[in-house]
Amino acid sequence: MITFVSIMSQFDYIKDIAKYGLENDQEKLLSVLNDLIEHSKNTKKLNFAIQLQSILKDSLKQQRNNSLTKVGSESYFNRIEDREVGELILEKLTSNYRLDNIVADNTVIHSLQYFIEEHQKAELLRKFDLPIANKLLLHGPSGCGKTLASYVVAGELDKMMVVVNLGAIVSSKLGETSKNLSKIFRKAASEDCIIFIDEFDSLGKVRDYSQDHGEMKRVVNTILQLFDYLPQNSIVIAATNQKEMLDEALLRRFDFSIGFNLPKEREIKELVLLTLKNGNFSFDSKIKANKVIKNSIGLSYYSIQKTLVTAIKRSLFAINNPENIISAKIDTSIWQKLIDIEKESIGV
Ligand SMILES: Nc1ncnc2c1ncn2[C@@H]1O[C@H](COP(=O)(O)OP(=O)(O)OP(=O)(O)O)[C@@H](O)[C@H]1O
Ligand SMILES: [Mg+2]
Repeated sequence: MITFVSIMSQFDYIKDIAKYGLENDQEKLLSVLNDLIEHSKNTKKLNFAIQLQSILKDSLKQQRNNSLTKVGSESYFNRIEDREVGELILEKLTSNYRLDNIVADNTVIHSLQYFIEEHQKAELLRKFDLPIANKLLLHGPSGCGKTLASYVVAGELDKMMVVVNLGAIVSSKLGETSKNLSKIFRKAASEDCIIFIDEFDSLGKVRDYSQDHGEMKRVVNTILQLFDYLPQNSIVIAATNQKEMLDEALLRRFDFSIGFNLPKEREIKELVLLTLKNGNFSFDSKIKANKVIKNSIGLSYYSIQKTLVTAIKRSLFAINNPENIISAKIDTSIWQKLIDIEKESIGV
């Protein structure tokens, strides 16, 4: 739940990649490439992670395909199918997240609860021939819980989720997109999983990229159709931090639209409690901690949690023989400093 930012920098990975590449050490090269993909995901460079992932996948496939494959055989079709859909799917996952893993104002929590309830009570709705709300839009600033909320829905409903990244398709192979999206929707319906479309605003952004407008219109039309004919038991969740980039026609399709906000004092306190819930760590001074909480207003949940976790680690490192202790005090002044740096870096 907490994202730990790795201490390796991107440059360290690039140095290792150069080294192992030149040494022809494929095993180590693959391992460091995978680490860099993970690192890029953790530091929110999703598009870069996807591009690396598809380079890696393509090259592995090519190596595998160097052995002869009979055209028309089953493995041939599987391979084509995978390549076409694979670049769109960032990951396929199951989730253990529950509603009590997310902090938000009451409106957000209630909307999430309603959405989940519709699917828990789908049978009842079906019995009375009532429609099930199955298209959910999550919008709001970065680091405020949109992706987390999608995991919560998947966890509460105990469904598998495929993460589709529209950012990746819009930057490449536009021509394939409509077809691939239809495939993903069909596959998801047959496997009873949730489709989570991240960076949904890419659909609007394409106008700036001076790409083929006609083609993009087709992608938008495909999405509109897929949404209109979505089977009742399928669920689509889309996320964006630029709702204003989306067409009215697209926005209208969603049954629910949930707006996430930066946390206020109450939510920051809850986030802190949630982060410290295993009881191993507490603040050296409650008064000082409350001051830091007030000071962190304006930052995202992600930034606040990240700085708190870093402060915990640094406080732990400052203790002699930390291996022998079971609880520790968090040095509040470290947290304050980290919050100040974070605020300065984003100009709050
Ligand atoms: N509302 C929240 N409650 C609890 N933790 C949160 C919340 N929002 C963010 N976090 C923490 O920050 C991490 C990143 O948040 P998340 O990925 O959900 O942000 P996001 O809104 O999807 O951002 P982006 O627009 O950049 O994709 C979460 O995994 C979680 O640890
Ligand atoms: Mg996200």
